[in-house]
Amino acid sequence: MTSESYAGHGALVNSVPGSRTATPINQPPRQADRVSRETLAPMQDSETPALIDDTPIGRAAQRAVEALGRIGEALPRPAETRVVVVANQKGGVGKTTTTVNLAASLAMQGARVLVIDLDPQGNASTALGIDHHAEVPSIYDVLVDGKPLADVVQPVVDVEGLFCVPATIDLAGAEIELVSLVARESRLQKALIAYEQPLDYVLIDCPPSLGLLTVNALVAGQEVLIPIQCEYYALEGLGQLLRNVDLVRAHLNPRLHVSTILLTMYDARTRLAAQVAEEVRSHFSAEVLRTAIPRSVRISEAPSYGQTVLTYDPGSSGSLSYLEAAREIALRGAPGGEQAAAGAGAATGGAPDEQYVADPASPGVYHQQPAQSIGPQGMPAHEQNTMEGNR
Ligand SMILES: Nc1ncnc2c1ncn2[C@@H]1O[C@H](COP(=O)(O)OP(=O)(O)O)[C@@H](O)[C@H]1O
Ligand SMILES: [Mg+2]
Repeated sequence: MTSESYAGHGALVNSVPGSRTATPINQPPRQADRVSRETLAPMQDSETPALIDDTPIGRAAQRAVEALGRIGEALPRPAETRVVVVANQKGGVGKTTTTVNLAASLAMQGARVLVIDLDPQGNASTALGIDHHAEVPSIYDVLVDGKPLADVVQPVVDVEGLFCVPATIDLAGAEIELVSLVARESRLQKALIAYEQPLDYVLIDCPPSLGLLTVNALVAGQEVLIPIQCEYYALEGLGQLLRNVDLVRAHLNPRLHVSTILLTMYDARTRLAAQVAEEVRSHFSAEVLRTAIPRSVRISEAPSYGQTVLTYDPGSSGSLSYLEAAREIALRGAPGGEQAAAGAGAATGGAPDEQYVADPASPGVYHQQPAQSIGPQGMPAHEQNTMEGNR
């Protein structure tokens, strides 16, 4: 969807914070020149008022007006900094895309947000327009050399209240270098505790593995956000990730829990996407956000301009869906928010390869069924050592 498609519905087009007037060399085509190829966000907001025009474009226009009207409208702030680990050991499921776009959405709605890029590929840094060539001080210096986080944080130019700790290619070696260091699983946690700037959210973009970098993120955070791509095999590997979360909670970080599952790359035209979404919702009813992120050309184009979709095409379905997802996350975490209800009666039923049951005492905590011992034997060998060394 493009800006002009809702121009007739309100005067908000030119008042979007983050939309630019200057045109950088690699600026994407002007919005007026674009033709949308997007599917629409399958939002399920029951509060959507009567539609002006009951066509797909009309409905999208209506949502754009509403969502854009909300940019700058403050969300409730969490009582303490929420450290959210965006993890899934599968590659290409939308971890980085989700991290940067959620972070921008939260910041544009008034929060102070830090993104920590923990993937040696540095894709989150790229998407936020942050320089991350080899000489740039980065998360590698924090983890391996103990440099203070404050020395490597950079502001994101386009979005007020958004900051980034970049990753450089050096990080590729950190997985091995960390093994011989003291307190190798809690180096990120230490750095975050020592960072004194006020923050509402820290979002950590994990690499596609369950090694020491991801373990550092899980030890530093309280919440895990799992993006799930609405494709075949969506749930494959999820059991392993949940086992790792269980292990880290048992041995290293008792506060850790899976707070949020986000369906990504949802294509409303395919039955498969609907089936996957239904299956994930049936297992994790309390954690899955109502908002799913649609497959969107604008979302995939934005990083090549060093932008999030929020500034690249604010009125697109991808931008709106991330704004809405951010809003859900903020409201759930607010005092007295939906989080209190989350977890009750969640997740039974059978997954393709295993079953998960919610722990009635701890919202967001899952155990596998049939009851099998959750212990270090489920971890990759080097992570078993990691866990045991810490006891
Ligand atoms: N909602 C979406 N619509 C279209 N493309 C997407 C969407 N989300 C992610 N992508 C694209 O899919 C690829 C993988 O996404 P990415 O966020 O890098 O995954 P991960 O970090 O899990 O490896 C990227 O090329 C990204 O641009
Ligand atoms: Mg990534």
